[in-house]
Amino acid sequence: MIARWRSLKMPTLGVAVIAALALGTGVWAQGKWVAPPDAKSLKNPVAKSDKVVAEARKIAETNCVACHGAKGVGDGPAAAALPVKPANWTSPAVQSETDGEIFWKISNGRGPMPPWKHLAEKDRWALVHYIRTLKK
Ligand code: HEC
Repeated sequence: MIARWRSLKMPTLGVAVIAALALGTGVWAQGKWVAPPDAKSLKNPVAKSDKVVAEARKIAETNCVACHGAKGVGDGPAAAALPVKPANWTSPAVQSETDGEIFWKISNGRGPMPPWKHLAEKDRWALVHYIRTLKK
């Protein structure tokens, strides 16, 4: 496994894998991932605009696509090495969730999905807007 990761050259991928190793709980999560009820009703405080979406897209390119893939379908280069597959952002499973649930999952992570609390809150809400633009 390690040798295989080392042989992959993408810097973003290295960062993603290290983040997953450092921040993962070690208990690779299983089963449906459900955000707590109070997260569900959180309203997105960031107004959606082309600018906000374009900025979030850049944040995703830097931090997320190694696992979630350039189109958000969960097929990034790091996905194959993970014990749990990255979510497909375009899927009904993700798109049927509220903004608050998606925001909570981005913030808290689970298993190989790192928590992204170190990103500014407004950037995490902007990422939710970006994920919405990928709805099929
Ligand atoms: C190291 C790989 C990795 C990186 C990097 C990563 N994710 Fe994930 N992500 C995952 C995995 C794996 C899951 C599925 C976790 C599970 O189901 O337990 C996931 C799940 C999610 C979900 C949950 C979907 C749902 O509704 O259940 C969202 C939203 C998400 N990621 C957003 C992001 C965003 C935004 C970023 C970048 C800021 C990001 N992820 C970076 C691996 C990653």
